[in-house]
Amino acid sequence: MFSKKITALDIGTSNIKIIYAVVSGRQARIKKQFIIDTPDGCILNGRITDAVALADLLNKFFKQNHFEPRDTVITFSSASFITRDMIIPKVPVKEIHGMIEMELPQNFPVSLDNHVWDYKVIEEIQSANGMNYRVLVAAVPQYFAAEYMQLAMACNMNLLSLDFSCNSVAELIKQDYYKKLDTAPYQTIMAMDFGSSSTKVTIVSKGMFMFHRILPFGGMHITQAIMKHMNVDEQGAEILKKEIGIDIVGEDELIPEMSQSIQVSDCIRAVLIEMFEDLSRFFDYYNSRQNENIDFVLLTGGGAQLKNLEQYLENTYNIPTKIYAVYSNVKATDTQKLSENALYLTNSIGALFNK
Ligand SMILES: Nc1ncnc2c1ncn2[C@@H]1O[C@H](COP(=O)(O)OP(=O)(O)OP(=O)(O)O)[C@@H](O)[C@H]1O
Ligand SMILES: [Mg+2]
Repeated sequence: MFSKKITALDIGTSNIKIIYAVVSGRQARIKKQFIIDTPDGCILNGRITDAVALADLLNKFFKQNHFEPRDTVITFSSASFITRDMIIPKVPVKEIHGMIEMELPQNFPVSLDNHVWDYKVIEEIQSANGMNYRVLVAAVPQYFAAEYMQLAMACNMNLLSLDFSCNSVAELIKQDYYKKLDTAPYQTIMAMDFGSSSTKVTIVSKGMFMFHRILPFGGMHITQAIMKHMNVDEQGAEILKKEIGIDIVGEDELIPEMSQSIQVSDCIRAVLIEMFEDLSRFFDYYNSRQNENIDFVLLTGGGAQLKNLEQYLENTYNIPTKIYAVYSNVKATDTQKLSENALYLTNSIGALFNK
């Protein structure tokens, strides 16, 4: 089968994830994988705020590692990215763009004059009036896309696509769960990418991207809560967060005096409880729109390593929950490294399949 060599980049608030892979149909083989620190102040809400520093860092890194990225996909997430689900009549492919363009003003809350937009046909739907398409339309401000294009140019990359991370993760689930979907007891999967600045929630139903939501809570907010409550610096708070995580013993098992771990765990819970309030609203929204429940939750992102998060979420929502760290359709030259990095690489791996 025809294969392509692709570099995928996921530039997060805390970490930049880079993979170089050979992609063939539903399968990918990762040849190189890197995770590097994002310089402070370079990314804000998914937007590149210091393109020069970022390009400089990447160019130095590529040189040191004797790596020349060519065909590249970049995946990002940002609240500035707006998506809408639209139903349009099933028309010939060349007419879809025009048909959507006419419907944009009724569907988007802002004028898209200064945005770039694209669409993806998600499914065909039979209605009383004939066949329709359900399309996902996505738009970002022009300056936003331009910054990524400039970065690609400054790093000598041939930018194949700029992909929204929820779309990337949905694509990975689709490819990975493709064979399992007929038999698995779960049809509707929710992926939660626990990043540093936010948590990206994506729902995939029967292999189709359905909805996404960016919850404005991430690892950074947990660290800040610990810093404030425990009166420690950022480094100290990160260590406490990683070492202690969520204490999930029952109330009656708690030691009466407020030990440090109980206090840290309480800080973490307080942030998660706030986040879950948002999440519950999203569940309700999804339920009312689709009239179906979430069957299964997959956790990704660096923050998913928070001790006991999997069990805490499962207990809260009573939905089977699993850390998403094994991809059946992805292999790597360095298998050990892939299993260590897997949680961080979900978006970049997904973007490989979405170019
Ligand atoms: N063992 C651990 N326990 C808890 N949190 C952890 C652990 N290891 C890493 N993290 C957290 O993971 C986060 C970084 O994850 P990730 O690289 O996915 O974020 P990002 O993609 O840079 O952020 P964003 O997507 O929000 O822009 C940090 O907040 C870090 O503290
Ligand atoms: Mg991220």
